[in-house]
Amino acid sequence: GTWEADALVIFGVTGDLARKMTFPALYKLEGRGLLDCPVIGVGRREMSHEELTGLVREAVQEAEGSLDRAVFDRLANRMAYVAGDLDAPETYGRLAQELGRRRRPLFYLETPPALFAPIVDQLASARLLGQARVALEKPFGHDLASARALDRRLTAVLDENQILRVDHFLGKEPVIELEYLRFANSALAELWHRDSVVAIQITMAEEFGVEDRGSFYDHVGALRDVIQNHLLLVLALVAMDPPVGPSATDLWDKRIEVLRAMPEADVHAYVRGQYLGYQQLPGVAPDSTVETYAALRLEINNSRWDGVPVFIRAGKRLPVRVTEVRLILREPPRLGFLPDPCRVTANQIVLRIDPEAGMRLQLSALDEESAWRLVPLDTIFARELGKPLAPYERLLYAALTGDDRYFAPQRAVEECWRIIQPLLTYPPPVHPYQPGSWGPPQADALVAGSPPWQRPWVPEVPPAPG
Ligand code: BG6
Repeated sequence: GTWEADALVIFGVTGDLARKMTFPALYKLEGRGLLDCPVIGVGRREMSHEELTGLVREAVQEAEGSLDRAVFDRLANRMAYVAGDLDAPETYGRLAQELGRRRRPLFYLETPPALFAPIVDQLASARLLGQARVALEKPFGHDLASARALDRRLTAVLDENQILRVDHFLGKEPVIELEYLRFANSALAELWHRDSVVAIQITMAEEFGVEDRGSFYDHVGALRDVIQNHLLLVLALVAMDPPVGPSATDLWDKRIEVLRAMPEADVHAYVRGQYLGYQQLPGVAPDSTVETYAALRLEINNSRWDGVPVFIRAGKRLPVRVTEVRLILREPPRLGFLPDPCRVTANQIVLRIDPEAGMRLQLSALDEESAWRLVPLDTIFARELGKPLAPYERLLYAALTGDDRYFAPQRAVEECWRIIQPLLTYPPPVHPYQPGSWGPPQADALVAGSPPWQRPWVPEVPPAPG
């Protein structure tokens, strides 16, 4: 892009997102020599420069386990802090003073979402929005209507191209790789359609639970938390046609075409689960019916995918942490010369997103006893391609350098809400499941008529810490 930030302003600098993600990412970018502007924190409480940089030091030590003094000092030197109520005009006056002659700040809103519109209004009144950009992170509303309402508030004072909607899945290397891998390899591209694929399964399993996020999660649930955003955008990448050029518009046009070809989800093809013990968490209603597991069937009504069901499931307290996309291919023909032709299993292509990005091609082969066995052809990307930037590093760098490709346009966000809206309006009952299981048994009926849920590919060697 031609736009480049001349300052980074973080609202909500004492919050969770800053500590867990933003500070470690800034430190890494500083270490790589990729940071080139002042970083200004804004928050309610009074803090000295030492206290602010102390937060950064703790956050980095927590995330990295170590700290390079020289890198930290460089980062600390570019940091400043503005204290004040986020709804008080004076705060923005002080911010303007701190910005001085800088006209292209990136305002990163890491506050509760209820503050997005009020902060942007204050920035507008203080005349700070001219050439600025504003980055925000989900939730963008809690349904289609509220997502539109939020956008109306924001676009009253901002152009669409000034708004960067952050979805950290779009910063993950394998998700980005999907875009290229598919089209750069005929061995994949030639299979990537309804003639070869009988079903798509997307699984996002987490072995941990909701833990201390109860008061947030109990208003959200699995469908809104990870399917409406992360997994539908992954699906759009998996299913899209090749973009006609490299620009953000080119890429997003093709993703949005996929979403537009998807009819609204069917409430009869939606299973909700809640792990036993969830209701006892702090912040969770004792009679909560919020889902910690969701599975659904979707369709893409276009020439590439018509008739290929897409199954998505996501849940907490499942057996392992793994996120993967799996294409199940058509069964081979029943050829008489093959021993036991009925036992040949169809091929599968697996793209693993987390942990340790990789790809697997599952083949059928005869073993010594002439029995059919599944043999995997695996590759782990990091071993072949080197260690990629962490998602927040990549996204923060993209936001600061005006690289729009990584950020979701409102049209995409609204399509995602449209697709799942009936499931929010008419939620089916929630079924209990055992922690550590693969979710409620009712989810098996969802795939009836298609191949059953496949056990995800789990890396044999646990990834090294860090
Ligand atoms: C977040 C969700 O968006 O993504 C969390 O709110 C979830 O519930 C997290 O655990 C998963 O992110 P990652 O990068 O660990 O796959």
